[in-house]
Amino acid sequence: MQVSDIKKVACLGGGIIGSSWAIQFAMHGMEVVIRDINDEQLQKSMDQMHKSLDTLEEAKAITSQRKAEILAAVKLTTSVEEAVKDVQLVQENGPERLDVKQSILKEAEQFLAPDAIYASSTSGLSITDIASVAAHPERCVGAHPYNPPHLIPLVELTRGEKTTQETVDLVYAFYQSVGKEAVLLKKECPGFISNRLQLALYREMVDLVQRGVCSVKDADKALVYGPGLRWAFLGHFMLMEIGNAKGFMGMMNMLQANGNAMLPGMANWTTLPEDWSDFNEGVQEELASLPDWVGHNAAQCVAYRDQALIEVLKLHKKL
Ligand SMILES: NC(=O)c1ccc[n+]([C@@H]2O[C@H](COP(=O)([O-])OP(=O)(O)OC[C@H]3O[C@@H](n4cnc5c(N)ncnc54)[C@H](O)[C@@H]3O)[C@@H](O)[C@H]2O)c1
Repeated sequence: MQVSDIKKVACLGGGIIGSSWAIQFAMHGMEVVIRDINDEQLQKSMDQMHKSLDTLEEAKAITSQRKAEILAAVKLTTSVEEAVKDVQLVQENGPERLDVKQSILKEAEQFLAPDAIYASSTSGLSITDIASVAAHPERCVGAHPYNPPHLIPLVELTRGEKTTQETVDLVYAFYQSVGKEAVLLKKECPGFISNRLQLALYREMVDLVQRGVCSVKDADKALVYGPGLRWAFLGHFMLMEIGNAKGFMGMMNMLQANGNAMLPGMANWTTLPEDWSDFNEGVQEELASLPDWVGHNAAQCVAYRDQALIEVLKLHKKL
């Protein structure tokens, strides 16, 4: 199979991730079928897609006609057979439990074409483990998006022990062709790349607050108005290259002194704190103090995040 043969995709599970993937695929010319367990869940998928597309329309990233075309490309069903029988790729977005992922895979394979690709959105499970029950493990891959997949381009691809190179090459080219920025892990690794980076940073933020160095709010502020702004456009290695007159090597020589002074005092704990109540208090204080145009509850902040992401995506020439 070639990338150009992939015209129809099934999203198994139409929750937060599944309905966002559906928009991404439909925006890039795919026919999409969302399968979920009942009509109530499917209605939630539809509502979420409407909301996401409304945000894109309000930001003038799409027209109302385009919105209608995207929605028309997405069908919804509770039938696994109907969802997968004539698709070239499955994007599985079910609950994050190995037994559930395995049963979704086994059920789908009963109706799936033997050469179709099976990609799981799993955040942390091993694709080797998920695919251990597959009749065709050679066509199974991990394809971990960042939430929301229609606004954050990254997809992290992992191969299982039995995934073929042909499958890996095909899925890499496919995700790139539907507007994603794919990274391929050279070997399986819990948390992939992005969640590990995120957790390493988060551990240090929590540690700084716990040691009384700063408040929750100031830890977030230091991130948002500092490195976060640069990281939206250039990666850390690249920032090292351009941040010193002598390039990367010059920056590394500088870091050698500063970094070695910092590292011994940095967080290295290997289990998360059990009591988060102090942090929660700080988070609620921060939420209350955000500017009114950002919002003071989760729904308002999600809307702000998505509007801001759309503007960033325009700068990345992704919209
Ligand atoms: N939310 C995130 O930030 C995020 C980011 C990246 C990856 N993921 C991964 O994506 C997957 C889905 O996460 P989510 O946040 O969308 O969860 P969710 O709970 O919003 O959605 C899961 C959906 O799967 C449905 N479902 C349950 N059993 C099913 C079955 N047998 N067949 C089909 N659908 C079934 C549920 O009804 C629900 O709609 C998980 O593996 C998660 O780890 C989540």
